[in-house]
Amino acid sequence: MLRIGVLVSGGGTNLQAIFDAIDSGKVRNARVEVVISNNEGAYALERAKKHGVDGLCIAPKRFADREQFYRALLNKLEEYSLDLVVLAGYLVTIPPAMIARYKNRIINIHPSLIPSFCGVGYYGLKVHEAALARGVKLTGATVHFVDEGMDSGPIILQKAVEVLPGDTPEVLQRRVMEQAEWIILPQAIDMIANGEFENC
Ligand code: GRF
Repeated sequence: MLRIGVLVSGGGTNLQAIFDAIDSGKVRNARVEVVISNNEGAYALERAKKHGVDGLCIAPKRFADREQFYRALLNKLEEYSLDLVVLAGYLVTIPPAMIARYKNRIINIHPSLIPSFCGVGYYGLKVHEAALARGVKLTGATVHFVDEGMDSGPIILQKAVEVLPGDTPEVLQRRVMEQAEWIILPQAIDMIANGEFENC
């Protein structure tokens, strides 16, 4: 049974997609043990509690400095003996110590087809604003392993989504979530949980 920790910052629709996929059997041999947010108001924490999963807030502002925050986060993750850490809209940079501790055991969902529209400054609606500004006809989402870079680790899955005339960033974001993110993130977890990666 793959023990998963999910790190969140916002509404938690990707977290919900993971819960739903586990409940429906689309994701096999995996269980979410803990959900941790840097944002105490994140609705994702409500989703965790409704699902009977520990939902914890570890917020940088509660610590004297970033190092103490990271230490608290790593210590909390250790308590759950996790096999996989999933970044589901987590807006805090992951420190090198955590990447080393969970080598090839941290995955992230990014709302574009990497290497397009990723890296520093590309998060949330900004990604879709950039895609619309460039005039791409296809965008999508990417699940990748997290390494020391920003959105630069090995790609696990991608799924393309059409950009339609008149799309606003908000409309496009929602389509990318519905048609790509909420599908490939659970799918990637199922692949990892069932040994479909040689480097896991
Ligand atoms: C998603 O668009 C995801 O691609 C990005 O952050 C957003 C998180 O949304 N990384 P939610 O909190 O899962 O609803």
